[in-house]
Amino acid sequence: MSEQKKEIVLSGIRATGNLHLGNYFGALRKFVQVQDDYDCNFFIADLHALTTNPDPTQLHQNVKSILAEYLAAGLDPEKSTIFVQSDVPEIAEMYLLLNMHVGIGELMRTASFKDKARKALGIGTPADDSDEAFEKEIIGASTNKRVNAGLLTYPTLMAVDILIQKATKVPVGKDQLQHLELTRRFARRFNSFYGVDLFPEPTDFDFGGAPVKVPGLDGSGKMGKSEGNCIYLIDEPKALRKKVMRAVTDEGPQAPNSPVSEPIANLFTLLELTSTPEVVKQYRDAYADCSIRYGDLKKQLAEDILAITTPIRERINDILADETYLASVVKRGAERARERAAATLSEMRHIMGIRKF
Ligand code: TRP
Repeated sequence: MSEQKKEIVLSGIRATGNLHLGNYFGALRKFVQVQDDYDCNFFIADLHALTTNPDPTQLHQNVKSILAEYLAAGLDPEKSTIFVQSDVPEIAEMYLLLNMHVGIGELMRTASFKDKARKALGIGTPADDSDEAFEKEIIGASTNKRVNAGLLTYPTLMAVDILIQKATKVPVGKDQLQHLELTRRFARRFNSFYGVDLFPEPTDFDFGGAPVKVPGLDGSGKMGKSEGNCIYLIDEPKALRKKVMRAVTDEGPQAPNSPVSEPIANLFTLLELTSTPEVVKQYRDAYADCSIRYGDLKKQLAEDILAITTPIRERINDILADETYLASVVKRGAERARERAAATLSEMRHIMGIRKF
């Protein structure tokens, strides 16, 4: 296949913290595998991070660490376009243009907006979760606890990330599917409003294979940075072992072949992701005949996780120390990303009637 024919894959991650095992097994590891087969574009969404008003002294550090983590995990700037969102000013301009075709009503009904707006206002989900009640909460909010407009237009910005590159395959987590649906809707709407065929409709991309759900260490649910249940790629061995040893368990199997409770099932899932089938079988058998010791299981798990994260952590630290390299990667990424972005933006401006004198 020639270079142009490859389908365009694009995914971004908000610059709000370090990457954890969930990011690694759920996304990063697959990104690494598809780099040869697709026109891959991976970026760090620092403008999206601004919607939750991060500490300005932290933001750049976060961008840097995610970049180093991307590279350490195997994203290859020779194969993929790796860039920082704010290095592509065309995105900000297109965001303004696209917003002219986005309804505040549809943005307000987005699940992630409701969630984040309520967090910003410091309120939980009320008994009356209707759209009408929600609007009143927002409009009635005092100005010192405002919900910023950037949070409302988060889906516009994400749609722009995707559409400006004309990406058709967008690997995202479940929580982002609604944003992807909005992206398709905005693309269709723009095309039909102007009678053009500018934007292709992107779809979720799971690279085939079974989806990987990486559980947290707190007994229930998936690993997530807002859950406080994460193992980070950058975790030092001592801290990592401590976290794993503290993972939630239960009182142990009371009879042979007992069903496995969620906290234990989660530990087994992590073991399956990081260990060999023989080791997994050994612990499964020990569970079935009640000889299992959770302390041993956790020790094993911690070492198997470390076998994966240690080389990555070492690379992260090496890469972080090499500012020149980091700068050259994002410079080149921005050049490539801007080329396509500028072309799309120019078409869009023309379609909308913006002309130069
Ligand atoms: N909103 C995504 C998240 O929080 C991050 C993101 C921003 C993104 N722009 C994107 C993902 C474009 C895919 C494509 O996970």
